[in-house]
Amino acid sequence: MADINQFTITDAVKASFKSRENERFTFLLETMLDHLHDFVRETSMTHEEWMTVLNFLYDCGKISTPERHEFILLSDVLGLSALVDMVNTRGGATEGSNLGPFYLNDAPEKPLGAHMAFGRDGATVLCMGQVRDTLGHPLPGAIVDTWQADGSGTYPIQEEGQDKYDLRAKFTCDAEGRYYYTTVLPKPYTVPYDGPVGRLLRAGDRHAWRAAHLHYIVGAPRMRSITTEVFFANTDYLDNDAVFGVRKSLIGKIERIRNSDELPADLEKKPDAKLAFDFVLAPA
Ligand code: BEZ
Ligand code: FE
Repeated sequence: MADINQFTITDAVKASFKSRENERFTFLLETMLDHLHDFVRETSMTHEEWMTVLNFLYDCGKISTPERHEFILLSDVLGLSALVDMVNTRGGATEGSNLGPFYLNDAPEKPLGAHMAFGRDGATVLCMGQVRDTLGHPLPGAIVDTWQADGSGTYPIQEEGQDKYDLRAKFTCDAEGRYYYTTVLPKPYTVPYDGPVGRLLRAGDRHAWRAAHLHYIVGAPRMRSITTEVFFANTDYLDNDAVFGVRKSLIGKIERIRNSDELPADLEKKPDAKLAFDFVLAPA
């Protein structure tokens, strides 16, 4: 019988997984084991410390529901979600950023020029831009799926009595790959911090605020769709977003509408300002 010690145990555990059919699974599992075992060796983890980690994960499971996934939030505040977005961004394409917990895949389809925020406080902003491929060709018929918080930083889906489909829409781009619609700008808001992840943030003297943003999933036939967010220049938390979602390339500029501006003829509501942002998709 081979003796097992703190240096041979990693290989022993790897060898205990017999099936090698799924190469990618084996690669991910073995790499994770390398890093986790090294973590314990490097830190000389005590029993109490390891139990604190396990109890923390237990608490994350206990508070999770179909609507609240504390492990995703944990991944978000540790920058892991952002890192997965980064390693999956294709060269030349728009950078990816957080999906967040408030996406619904059956948002109402709305015509270009629609106003998304009737009855909501705030200046009317024209969101507009073009969807192109990485060679600069427009993508006619691209789908721009967007959702956002309101002018107080709340998603309608978070509040009882509100229509959860409010402040979200799917737009089909025109023949030049252009999208345009009007809405109000969201305010910053906090990620949930009343659970174990909140405890972790407090332990690290961290806040829970997210920079204000609009969410987008943009796709087109034969192209790799992107999940991303658009932020606004000169707003709070751009430098310290709680989930590390902000990238320089995702910050748009809000500009006053000038009389000389040529606006789309079919806008449902006259805008006060505009936010131009183009999306670039890589081939699938
Ligand atoms: C959001 O952007 O909606 C979000 C992202 C991560 C955690 C909570 C909310
Ligand atoms: Fe969000």
